[in-house]
Amino acid sequence: MKKLIIFGAGDLARLVSFYIEELNETKIIAYSVDDKYYTSETYLGKPLIPYSRIKRYAGTLNTPPLLVTIGYADMKARETIFKRIKNDGFTTTNFIGSKLAKTCKLGTNNIILPNVQIEPFTEIGDNNIFWNGSHVCHDASINSHNFFAANSLIGGNVIIKNGCFIAFNSTVIQNVTVEDDTLLGAGAVLTESNKKNRKYLGCPAKEVGKNTRGIKL
Ligand SMILES: CC(C)(COP(=O)(O)OP(=O)(O)OC[C@H]1O[C@@H](n2cnc3c(N)ncnc32)[C@H](O)[C@@H]1OP(=O)(O)O)[C@@H](O)C(=O)NCCC(=O)NCCS
Repeated sequence: MKKLIIFGAGDLARLVSFYIEELNETKIIAYSVDDKYYTSETYLGKPLIPYSRIKRYAGTLNTPPLLVTIGYADMKARETIFKRIKNDGFTTTNFIGSKLAKTCKLGTNNIILPNVQIEPFTEIGDNNIFWNGSHVCHDASINSHNFFAANSLIGGNVIIKNGCFIAFNSTVIQNVTVEDDTLLGAGAVLTESNKKNRKYLGCPAKEVGKNTRGIKL
């Protein structure tokens, strides 16, 4: 059975652990958090290890891959922590809870919960989260560090750049490019390519200001 270490001990770590254990294909051997968040010796019945203690094993032969499970509440932290862990030399792995089209190209540290649809000829970078019911249509290209909430819909040939938050029931229609750090609010429908680091609401979506990354969503 494959093994992994989960980085994080919050809501997303708990939820992903539930699905990993349900699928029963991978064994979670431990959890790790940055030292300032280390408050207990165990998490969900497994060892919880301060990051400074596992860091020395990065890149060694028997060290299992990490899955970084930092949630959407601080989008900047998700990106920064993932990059740091890679720079430290750890390998990371995906959690794939849905059946993906064979032609889908997938990077690493993506979390794809059950009932996600990723159509053929799509490309997905690193460190994205796809919540239940999200749907990515054919030939879309998703870069890295994005979050797709439940029932979000990404049209065919769409390009999603990096660090975007695509909220509940929102839609990006086909052939649109979504620039870095976009926040598309719940129920919004983005009908044209946009400017980076902005917040959009409504149908058709209108820009309503800057996207302050790290905002509590
Ligand atoms: C966009 C969002 C972050 C709110 O942004 P905000 O700037 O903090 O907005 P506020 O809550 O201050 O509301 C500002 C105004 O926009 C309206 N508004 C908020 N969200 C809206 C939305 N999604 N669509 C339309 N109008 C919205 C509010 O009603 C308010 O209107 P008012 O000024 O007439 O009273 C939030 O609505 C949203 O979509 N959150 C994402 C939820 C989600 O998908 N979570 C996933 C968790 S798994």
